[in-house]
Amino acid sequence: MARINDNYLKLQAGYLFPEISRRVNEFTAANPGANVIRLGIGDVTKPLVPAVLKAFHRGVDEMADQSTFHGYGPEQGYDWLAQIIIDKAYQPLGVELKTSEVFISDGSKCDSGNILDIFDLGNKVAIGDPVYPVYNDTNVMVGRSGDINEQGYYDGLVYMPCTEENGFNPDFPSEKVDLIYLCYPNNPTGTVATKEQLKAWVDYAIKNDSVILFDAAYEAFITEPDIPHSIYEIEGAKQCAIEFRSFSKTAGFTGVRCGLTVVPEELMGTTASGEKYSFNKLWNRRQCTKFNGASYPVQKAAAAVYSDEGWAQVKEIIDFYMENARIIREGLTAAGIQCFGGINAPYIWLKTPEGMSSWDFFDKLLNECYVVGTPGSGFGPSGEGYFRLSAFGDRENIETAVQRIREKWGK
Ligand code: MLT
Repeated sequence: MARINDNYLKLQAGYLFPEISRRVNEFTAANPGANVIRLGIGDVTKPLVPAVLKAFHRGVDEMADQSTFHGYGPEQGYDWLAQIIIDKAYQPLGVELKTSEVFISDGSKCDSGNILDIFDLGNKVAIGDPVYPVYNDTNVMVGRSGDINEQGYYDGLVYMPCTEENGFNPDFPSEKVDLIYLCYPNNPTGTVATKEQLKAWVDYAIKNDSVILFDAAYEAFITEPDIPHSIYEIEGAKQCAIEFRSFSKTAGFTGVRCGLTVVPEELMGTTASGEKYSFNKLWNRRQCTKFNGASYPVQKAAAAVYSDEGWAQVKEIIDFYMENARIIREGLTAAGIQCFGGINAPYIWLKTPEGMSSWDFFDKLLNECYVVGTPGSGFGPSGEGYFRLSAFGDRENIETAVQRIREKWGK
């Protein structure tokens, strides 16, 4: 009989968000009349904007016409999309990239898991705590960790606590590591890093020969000036960083699927015999073998996000979600609940009232306010006592949720 990958058995619970859905479904089945407001998973609620939809439709129509039909596209994505992304999303930041460094995909969740294919299993990995669970779980799945210990940490992975004391910006790893995951604006805490803070990470990575895996999925939600949108705004970052970006939250593509990964040609690793080798070449090889590109209509739709019309429409929705974030943050703060994030990110990270555990607060909020959020401890042990609310709901729901929480805990 075929042996399973036993590493999967080390994972304690189901993946966080399906686990939450399971509990919510159980609750709604038992309470069919309850008007449950879902601010758990960060899933967008606004439809695709008109300019994107038009391009998407046109792409589909082209597929139906013999003269404009497209079969397999390039595994790396179409050059025209990579060039638009470079021109519209990177050049304004002063970042020069080549199309050969931009890999279009069907989403940054997949990329941030798949990237592990090009790194040796012996590499030491550092991740934040709390953290987007994909970084932790994918490392466990490939066998880079031992079992989970009593504190909730997997042996063999290096955790960097992100706490109120350090402003949710982790200190450097406690030991030498080869890979460092950073996510800014941060999921789940909503924190951002300044240029100086990112510069310190880049300098650290270069000095220690580490690679930074930089998740910038929420960069479009930055509202404050001078906060970097890309790690490549920092000098030297091309020598030490891979960046992930996503159309999911930026342009409502959670159900459409499109993302990108930048692997600079300057970024080198070493072979077993100590020679330098390009990660860009490896990722290209990996994608050519295991991926056949995002679909043509999806890439047409993604390109339209960066048209003048498309960006104006998309920006309006981003502003709408960030207004939701303001309503949550200010409403709960007025109720005496301590809130973080929500200024440059669509997530509010709050301290649970009355010192409740994250899951106790989850249950209370669901049972008594009919509001769903994400328990902080689901993102890692240092998230215990915290809770994440997503700002991606519709306005009425956001206002009702805030009002229910204020009535329950407020002053
Ligand atoms: C989240 O809620 O953290 C995200 O929606 C999950 C994801 O992007 O995969």
